[in-house]
Amino acid sequence: MARRCSNPLLYLFNYTTVRYVVTQNKIVGLLYRFFQLIIMCYLIGWVFVTKKGYQVVDDTIESSVVTKVKGIARVNTTFSDLWGPEEYVIPDHGGKFLFVVTNFIETPNQTLTTCPESPSVPFSTCTHDDNCTEGEAVRAGNGIKTGTCRKTDGNETNTCEIYGWCPTEKPRREAATMLREAENFTVYIRNFIKFSQFNLSKTNILKEGYPSYIKTCLHDEIHHPYCPVFRLGDIVSKAGYRFEEVAAKGGSIGIVIKWSCDFDMDTSDCHPQYSFMSMGSSTPVTAGYNFRFARYSSDAAGRTHRNLYKVYGFQLNVMVFGTASQFSIIHTIINVASVLTLMAVGSYICDVILLFMVKKKYAKFESLIKADKEIALQKMPDHSKRKFSH
Ligand SMILES: *[C@@H]1O[C@H](CO)[C@@H](O)[C@H](O)[C@H]1NC(C)=O
Repeated sequence: MARRCSNPLLYLFNYTTVRYVVTQNKIVGLLYRFFQLIIMCYLIGWVFVTKKGYQVVDDTIESSVVTKVKGIARVNTTFSDLWGPEEYVIPDHGGKFLFVVTNFIETPNQTLTTCPESPSVPFSTCTHDDNCTEGEAVRAGNGIKTGTCRKTDGNETNTCEIYGWCPTEKPRREAATMLREAENFTVYIRNFIKFSQFNLSKTNILKEGYPSYIKTCLHDEIHHPYCPVFRLGDIVSKAGYRFEEVAAKGGSIGIVIKWSCDFDMDTSDCHPQYSFMSMGSSTPVTAGYNFRFARYSSDAAGRTHRNLYKVYGFQLNVMVFGTASQFSIIHTIINVASVLTLMAVGSYICDVILLFMVKKKYAKFESLIKADKEIALQKMPDHSKRKFSH
């Protein structure tokens, strides 16, 4: 003890090693081999083959999406009997979010004047003029009350007269117009992606140099899996919707483009996978998607008129996900090392089992302990040895 303190530098050159005991216990031996086998299977089968633990993965994908819808529909509106994408795609600049009108209610030729409020608006009915406070807006309604209670046109109920865009929108069933041809509309999707970590960029237009192919092809999982033009009806049915149902009420659809690029393979293997999912619930209150917009015009007398549209349709949302992976020596070493650490757990478990098993026939261990003690005694100075020996 005194010597050790007197020269602490010597401590620096000490190396502690573990003393190994080889035991002939067949069960524990077999158990340990079995454990090693499991670890090796885990390392090779799961970590390397399944999870590709020898690769570094980049899942921050940079992407841009351009979309274009095409198709013509015959409709019956006051301003036109033919609708193209300029009419039914909103917004029309072709980004990753777009809305395709499939059904609408037109309320043509509205002007700012007075008329009875629509009976479908809550709190609009009245029995007396007293029910209609002048100057008050109808909650969720179309205008400001004028103070009179009026019989609505072609209806038995009385509602407050309003000043607003008149006549008001009719309840839906009478006036909805379906774009039946919408099922055959096509959606062209151009997607550009980049993996910065590997400095690699790609696009989903794989047949570059064949513009005529893109103009004529239609996406099909088997025959044209890389064609970027989709039929709207196919998108809707693959998302799990019934076309007629959602075309009438509207709905949200996610178009997922998934890239999984393994650069240890040929990079030409890095292809987009398309899938479609419905993004709305089917409860009556939350189902559907609609909104309103108006087109304004002036007549010769300078009066402003507007056509109001309540439109129902598909809200399409293009989402891009992806991962790129490549061999990395650092990742390989880290994964192997972390798996090998599990080996230590195995030997610990085997030690514990051995300790329990040898309780019965611990003579073998006792002799080992005895031998240890003797070695220790030999090393001790004489005065302490005497104390120890009895
Ligand atoms: C869609 O196109 C197919 C084939 O061109 C045609 O038979 C079908 O009637 C069209 N559907 C609608 C709703 O126009």
